[in-house]
This record gives sequence, C-alpha cells and structure tokens, in this order.
Amino acid sequence: MIQIGIDYYPEHWDASLWEKDLAQMEAIGVSCVRVAEFAWAKLEPQEGSFDFAWLDEAVEAIARHGMKVILCTPTNCPPDWLYRQYPDCLQWNTEQGPTYTGIRGHRCQSSPVFRGHVERIVSALAQRYANHPAVYAWQLDNEIETNQCVCPSCREKFQAWCREKYGTLENLNRCWGTDVWSGQYSDWSQLRPHTKLAGYQIGWYNPAYILDWERFGASVTAEYAAFQAGIIRRYKPDAIITTNACFSPVNQTDLHLEFQSLNVAAYDNYPPVRLPEDSEEVYSAAFGLDLIRGLKRKNFWILEQLGGPGGCWGPMAPNLEPGMLEGYALQAVAHGADLVSFFRWRTAVSGAEMFCHGLLDHSGKPNRRLRELCQAVQTLQKHPYLDKTTLVSPVALLYGANQAFALRNQRQSDGFRYWTQPQLLHEACGNLGVNVDVIEEAQSLAGYHVVLVPVHTVVNAKTVENLYAFARDGGTVVLTDRCGVKNEYGNCIGGEELPTVFAALAGCHVEEYDPIGQQKQEILGKNGKTYAITSWCDLLQCDSAEPIARYLGRYYDGTPAITKNSYGKGCVYYIGTVGEKAMYRDLLLEIFRALGIAVQEQLPRGVEITTRSGEGGTYRFTFNNTAAPVCFPLGGEEIRLKPLEMRIDVM
Ligand code: GLA
Ligand code: ZN
Repeated sequence: MIQIGIDYYPEHWDASLWEKDLAQMEAIGVSCVRVAEFAWAKLEPQEGSFDFAWLDEAVEAIARHGMKVILCTPTNCPPDWLYRQYPDCLQWNTEQGPTYTGIRGHRCQSSPVFRGHVERIVSALAQRYANHPAVYAWQLDNEIETNQCVCPSCREKFQAWCREKYGTLENLNRCWGTDVWSGQYSDWSQLRPHTKLAGYQIGWYNPAYILDWERFGASVTAEYAAFQAGIIRRYKPDAIITTNACFSPVNQTDLHLEFQSLNVAAYDNYPPVRLPEDSEEVYSAAFGLDLIRGLKRKNFWILEQLGGPGGCWGPMAPNLEPGMLEGYALQAVAHGADLVSFFRWRTAVSGAEMFCHGLLDHSGKPNRRLRELCQAVQTLQKHPYLDKTTLVSPVALLYGANQAFALRNQRQSDGFRYWTQPQLLHEACGNLGVNVDVIEEAQSLAGYHVVLVPVHTVVNAKTVENLYAFARDGGTVVLTDRCGVKNEYGNCIGGEELPTVFAALAGCHVEEYDPIGQQKQEILGKNGKTYAITSWCDLLQCDSAEPIARYLGRYYDGTPAITKNSYGKGCVYYIGTVGEKAMYRDLLLEIFRALGIAVQEQLPRGVEITTRSGEGGTYRFTFNNTAAPVCFPLGGEEIRLKPLEMRIDVM
C-alpha cells in the first residue's frame, strides 16, 4: 500500500484534542503520523532534564489508533535557554556576530558545542523510542539548508577544508586563479567565510572561491545529517532514517551528498496553488519529484505534502482549487512516492505560521480539503500493490550541485537560471509520456537509451568519460549551451573552443556566443518549423555534425543553432540556445521515434504521463496539470480530465 501520513504537532494542542484528531485520521486511512519536529524546548525544558511524558502519551495514542510514528529530531529549533547559555551554537550571518534568535533554524551546523547538545537530545530520544514498536522511521531536523554560517567555528573549518583539499597555499592560489585583483593568499588565516555583505554583489567575488565555499557548506550539511543518523543507529542499527529535503531552484544544497548516509530520500512537496497563465512557464512539481527519486535511484517519501494555502513566508496564498489536493498527491505517487504525509492536520492558532494552513482551518471542522484527502486515499486503496512498482526510465537527465552553485552565483545572461533548461527538457519527456530519471551527473548510465545533459558547465571528469563511452556504445546524448565552460575549480577552460571537452562528442564548436538575455529571437528547424528562442545563442560551426536548426535574422542569420552528430554507434545533439517548449518536444520526439521508444504524441500541453511497473503490476498515470479541462485520445479511448485530475489505468 502507498502510505498516507499526517504531520501533527501534539504540543500545539490541548491533549484533549489528540484523541479526536487521531480517531479521525485512523478513520480516513492514515497510516503514519509525523511528530516532535520542532519540540526541543518541550522535550528538554532545562539542560539535561527531559520531559518525555507528553511524547510518550502521544506515541501511545497514535499506536492505539493503529498508526505508526515518524519521529523527528527537534534540532532545527534549539530552545532559547540553550542559545543564552551556549552562544557558540548560534549561526552567524555576518562576521560581526550571531543572528537574532526567536525564529527558527538558527543553529550552526558545524559548531562542536552545538553538536554536543544535539548528541544529548538525539541520544535521549533514540534511547527511549528507537526500539518502540510504533516508531517506524526518523526525520532529521527540518529542511536542512546548506550551511551558510560564518561563525568562528565555520571559519576555522573552512580553512581546514581548503588546506586538506589544496595542501599548499601556492596550489590554492593557482587553482583559484588569485592573480586577478591581487587576490593571493599568503596565510591560511586570510581565508574567510563568504558573507553576504550589503552593497556587494556576489558576482564581484572570485567565482572559484565562492564555488568552494558552497561545496564546503554542502559538506558540512551532509556531515551534520550523517552525524545525527549515526547517533540513532547506535540504538537501532537498522532504523529507517531520512530528512525532509526541499528543492529550491535558488538555494540548493548538495542533496545527493546529504542523502548518502540516509536510508530513504524524502521531500517536502509544495506545488503551485496558482497555475501560471503563460503556458511557456515551467511550473510542474514533476521535476523536483523525479530529482528526489534520483537521489537514491529508488522510490521516495513526501514528508510534507501541500495540505492548505501557505502563509508566513509570504502573503497568504490562494486556497487550493478543487482537485488540487488530490491531484498533486497522486502526482507525487505517479513519480515514485511510496509515502505521502500531509502538512499539517490543524492550522496553528498561534506562532508565525498561524496563517500557513493545514488540512483543517482554525475551526478544526472537516472541510473540502479533508474530503479531497479522503478521495485520494480511496483512489490509492483501489491499487494496493502500487508500492511494489517503480518508474523504469529509458531517459536520464543529469544535474549536478556544482552546476547549481556555479550558475546561481554567476548569471550567464539576464534571466539565465541553471534549472530552466533541465526543467524544459524534463517537461517535454512527461508530455510525451516517457519516464525520465533525474540523476546526479557522475552516476552510471547503464540501462539508459538517452542521456540529457543540460548546462554541464563545471566539467566533471567522470561524467565526460561516461558520456563518451555511452555514445560510443550506441546511446543518444543531448548537450546544451554552456557545457564544457569551466574546469573543476570553476575557472574557464582556456585555449580551446567551446564545448571544449565535449567538442569531439558534439562534432561542432562554438565560434562566438551571444548572451541575449530576455530578448526573443527565432530559429528555423530542418523540419520547416520556426521556434522562439531566448537567453543564449551559441553560433555553431559544424565539424562532423550536421545542422538541424539555424538562427533567423541578425548578424548570424543562417548560422547553426542545433546540431546532430554521429559518434561511435551513437548520436549526439547539441542545442546551442534556449527554446520554447515546442522546440524540446519536437526534438525529443524525433529522438524517441528513431530509437523506438514508445511515445504519446497527442497529449495537450500540461498533461503528463508516467508509468510505474514491477512486481505489483503496471500502472499508467495521466495527470492534467493545468487549470482547464482537457480532452484527448489515449489508447483508442477519448479521455476527459478535469483541471488537476489524475487518471490511473492498470495496464
Ligand atoms: C516548510 C517547513 C514547514 C513549514 C512549511 C510551511 O516546508 O518544513 O515546517 O514551515 O514549510 O509551508
Ligand atoms: Zn558556524
């Protein structure tokens, strides 16, 4: 069975409400309840003096209702007494001193003093609950963002990390290219954490330094998660441990690294409540879901699923449209979620998130959103073996934390974002009904027929080797603009034309480029169609490749924009620009057809098809991810779907 969960904060409610809430959850078919997420102060009101009575009672009550517990370590919110007594636990946003307390997430992930306190609270929890029959799994902390702290402990650790990586300062200076602007370091103590100083733009710092600062932050975060997991495993070596990742296109840690020490990948899934009117915008949650499945190349969990309109972090969001709550939950399942836990049962009546709505409004009365949750559960109950299936994909899409780090700190053109092209390519696959795995760039490519390699800017030697071997053996590779720009240190590869290390694979080179930013232009495909393009234009020269689209207008009218090359037994495409959605769809359709990969060509824009298969059977998920009803033929039938409706066909 796919499991349905609820995020519950017993400490926010009078214990007299628990029974009623849990009985309702049980009646709906909820199988697990996530608790204790931010409750450190309640669990340890004074140093070393624990109060587990309330949590014991909550865990027992959940078990009495036949549900399991996902227990959280409360380390995102250390109590104020701890910060007062041990200010070394506090995060510093500037080198002038620690941040203001009283919100959340203020801990320094690297501080040895903080780690000592984490050890105490997590050990106490694990000792008491890890072997409790009702405790099913653990969530570490909450949405652990990449460590950005610049406190003295982080400074020292950054210096040690650099020393370990580069050995000597001469080497560091060479690899970082510090000859520019007199940037040489003559003593390790001169290396400082990167602070976001007011008035200074990120683009003014040395990009090689910033890239390593980001890598350092991600390594601290991954190590912080591993540290907590290690404590729990001391008490229960086979505990199921995860954390609730969030995918933020703007501030991403290295999730692949973070989850290496954890057992299951898990994600907080908040798809948009207002669908964009511009049909060229990419908004589908599908990309993030496939990326999370790719972290461990296995099915995953949702630990927070959209249950109501948000507030607090922005103005209150619009309420969920009919069909949204159910549709989005089933969309997560369609991409490999085996457990979906909703944020949260009741909306808080106090605290910063009092307008960040859960399933139930402040009244606590059953409502439309809860009815939709019941429907989602009923839909899933019809397919009890779904959890014995997964997505088998002919296509891999490569992403890398280094690319995200390098490109968020150095915009390539006005409006250029790293995630745009991955998402455009990904959406085209879903709209053609082709499963795609979003995987970390250095992973094995065995078993795939097509590998999409958008914006591989910071060259990873393993990836390059894999791609050459993959094409030589008959695979199809799709490269894009900004591939092969930088070496592993984040400095430009000089002395050869772009796409440098990929030139032999692509059979073309970039003679000039034009970062056109928000400007719109056009290309003409060999298929006779014109497509709108924007953002970036590589003016290509074919070596062994043939052009399959050319620029229209301006001084590069007629210059190749997209090329196709034969390499070994395989085939390599190079897309030198950022196109409208139809461009990716048509190109991938051509590729899939040539390889005999089954496609659905007739899907209206915004309709996504994925297939889960395995021991539990084969299930086709057809999702209308738009605000309008759609009608189209599928397998000899005429399908009508309401906005955000999911249809599941047993094949
Ligand atoms: C995040 C957090 C939750 C809550 C929600 C609100 O995902 O993990 O604690 O703040 O956002 O949407
Ligand atoms: Zn710190």
